[in-house]
Amino acid sequence: MQEKLKQIAAAAQAEIITDKHTLEAFRIKYLGTKGIMKEVFEAFKQVPNEEKKSLGQLINVLKNELETLYTSKKEAFENVSEQASNQDDFTKPGIKVPQGNRHPINIIKNDMIAIFERIGFTIAEGPEIEDEWHNFTALNTPEDHPARDMQDTFYIDSNTLLRTHTSPVQIRVMETQTPPIRIITPGRVYRNETISARAHCTFHQVEGLYINKNVSFADLKQTLLYFAKEMFGQNVDIRLRPSYFPFTEPSAELDISCFICDRKGCAVCKGSGWVEIGGCGMVDPAVLENCKIDAKEYTGFAFGMGIERITMLKYGIDDIRLFYENDIRFLKQFA
Ligand code: PHE
Repeated sequence: MQEKLKQIAAAAQAEIITDKHTLEAFRIKYLGTKGIMKEVFEAFKQVPNEEKKSLGQLINVLKNELETLYTSKKEAFENVSEQASNQDDFTKPGIKVPQGNRHPINIIKNDMIAIFERIGFTIAEGPEIEDEWHNFTALNTPEDHPARDMQDTFYIDSNTLLRTHTSPVQIRVMETQTPPIRIITPGRVYRNETISARAHCTFHQVEGLYINKNVSFADLKQTLLYFAKEMFGQNVDIRLRPSYFPFTEPSAELDISCFICDRKGCAVCKGSGWVEIGGCGMVDPAVLENCKIDAKEYTGFAFGMGIERITMLKYGIDDIRLFYENDIRFLKQFA
């Protein structure tokens, strides 16, 4: 009987199995209910008890060998057929490629750009590494103004710095173009601030500039009102509070009525019904003259808003640091 087992093993190894059909024939021949192994087990019953133990082990080894041979061939054929059908069957559902999404800052930036483009503003850009003239001097910011202080500005050398606002882009445009000028300047700015939930050392602004004959404060107000309604909803109102910027006169802070509580008072507006979103004013004649624009002929308005601030209001985000941590759990909520 031992001899017989060896012969079966050799014969099985020699079987030519090339596809699913020959594999199935192999299974029926060796492992089927009327197959060779069945015969072996029948014959085993007749074996004298003394031989049963050693022979039984040999039979089990053979059975395992045949089953391993069968399953390994089976898996090989399955892999091949899957590959082949993926290549050939174009009606099969495809493999989904995960898609990313825009960063919330970019979503709101693009919304803001679209709103201003609808009323004739075009985009202007400038360098993030600036000189004192464009960032401060031309903007009528006196030598001893606190904004120039090392605490607020990242200086690279005594004349070179990281821009603290996007207003230097306005200077660059006024220096090179003649009015009428109607631009917005979306971009990144830097300030040497302690990082907290409310403030960061880098953030984004959209500033606007309109220079023409007879531009008035009413034009500024109407432009900002239009923006606020487009951005936050038609029920929203604006409020201008007198303020000071070196480069505008008069100057104002821009508030919108709190669209979260509808002016009733909530945590976001700290009970006041209003939230600040930026600054604005009429361009100071000294700034126009610095850019060789005749201040007797032309007037203009300018405004600036923080994109982070508006994004936080729109989405109810309470920590500015989330924007720069690239945590996928935060970012994918904006898909
Ligand atoms: N440049 C100012 C700032 O960063 C904002 C501003 C722009 C104010 C234009 C008035 C006019 O803070």
